[in-house]
Amino acid sequence: MLQFPINGLIAEGIEAGGHIGTETTFTLIPQIAAISDLPILAAGGIYDYWDCQAAKVLGAAGVQAGTIFLAAKECQIALNYRQLLCQSSNPGTMLAKTSTGYWARVLKNPGRSSTNRSLKAAVQNGDLKKGAFMAGQVADRITQIEPVARIINRLVHAN
Ligand SMILES: Cc1cc2nc3c(=O)[nH]c(=O)nc-3n(C[C@H](O)[C@H](O)[C@H](O)COP(=O)(O)O)c2cc1C
Repeated sequence: MLQFPINGLIAEGIEAGGHIGTETTFTLIPQIAAISDLPILAAGGIYDYWDCQAAKVLGAAGVQAGTIFLAAKECQIALNYRQLLCQSSNPGTMLAKTSTGYWARVLKNPGRSSTNRSLKAAVQNGDLKKGAFMAGQVADRITQIEPVARIINRLVHAN
């Protein structure tokens, strides 16, 4: 049997973009910290330095962010995907049923299902009818397309 070392655990909450479970990021971190000594990465809802600090206080060693990078100037998804992110306002996301029976968080309005094909339609063509524009709740805090350096800077520095 193949065995792989496990170097850390990702606590991904229901706030996150894409396929999700049922618990929030900030309820998962302390629950995992209570039963494991492995480093925990907080995923879901991370936007800036203060979110990282909050995750750290709860027991996370780092973060995993996805949605904020969709709005990076360097991100090669369709331009209208990024524009939809910037327009998103609370509650800007919803849950869409996936082909596996699980749920995925997507931007509200465009696309009601979430399959590999519908994600491709959103990413490559910005197809408002067939596309599943996966994004986390943090989309509601995104207001502009900006260089990835600025996004990372916001994560590591308190401004
Ligand atoms: C468009 C999109 C696609 C994603 N695809 C995957 C994937 O294929 N596999 C995976 O494990 N996580 C995937 N994720 C989840 C991210 O790895 C990450 O955990 C999540 O985006 C963190 O939450 P946030 O969206 O609030 O930043 C995806 C997220 C987004 C927004």
